[in-house]
Amino acid sequence: MIALRTERELELMVEANRIVGEAHRALAPLVNAGVKTKELDEIAEEIIRSQGAEPAFKGYHGYPATICISINEQVVHGIPGDRALLDGDIVSIDIGSKYKGYYGDQAITRAVGVISEDEQKLLRVTRESLFKGIEKAVAGGRLGDIGGSIQGWVEDHGFSVVRQFVGHGIGRKLHEDPPVPNYAPPERNPRLRKGMVLAVEPMVNLGTPEVEVAEDGWTASAVDGLPSAHFEHVVAITNDEPRILTMMEEDILVEA
Ligand code: MF3
Ligand code: CO
Repeated sequence: MIALRTERELELMVEANRIVGEAHRALAPLVNAGVKTKELDEIAEEIIRSQGAEPAFKGYHGYPATICISINEQVVHGIPGDRALLDGDIVSIDIGSKYKGYYGDQAITRAVGVISEDEQKLLRVTRESLFKGIEKAVAGGRLGDIGGSIQGWVEDHGFSVVRQFVGHGIGRKLHEDPPVPNYAPPERNPRLRKGMVLAVEPMVNLGTPEVEVAEDGWTASAVDGLPSAHFEHVVAITNDEPRILTMMEEDILVEA
């Protein structure tokens, strides 16, 4: 069963996602060479708790931290620790919150200092692909239109879409039905209805789409070692335009 959310529920999810956005905003000026990833994690947890919410990822299937931080060839689910960011890294930060029983979830990838032109293009195309997918999140359309649109944009620009991880419904659980692949799905293609809320989250690789999970049980990396980017928004289906419940990157990345 795919849950259909009421207006009141959407308001709570806006709040959960606003809190996630505040955590991203607090981290934005700190994503610099020399910072340890666990320092970013501590700050994100503080911000989330200070707003009356809880980190959504911590404890989820045993995940040990508030944020996922995935650097360079790491695709998703990198665990914060003693590693320090370096000039030239590309860093994806994914943050989730639970507020009054409802979940927020958002990922953003950014550069530390100077990165290559290919990497700049990877970040740009990945974010654009997310919006290409969101455009298709309209009542009466099909779920697969979202992934098809993402995949088309990514592959037209010479990059590849990760298949082993997908987006998801979100609401009273972090991960609800339906799974939201970032490619045109071969099967299971439900019609989109008003009140569905989806976390759309393309993971895009510069080289091969193949990923493997490290011995820590979490960190997923591109097997060819080439960079990967990840952007995520939460979007509600309406009878009109898609309604994005997460904060816009422009509002998160403003200089302090
Ligand atoms: N946004 C990611 C997802 O929805 C983050 C999940 S991390 C986990 O899959 F630790 F909670 F698994
Ligand atoms: Co997600």
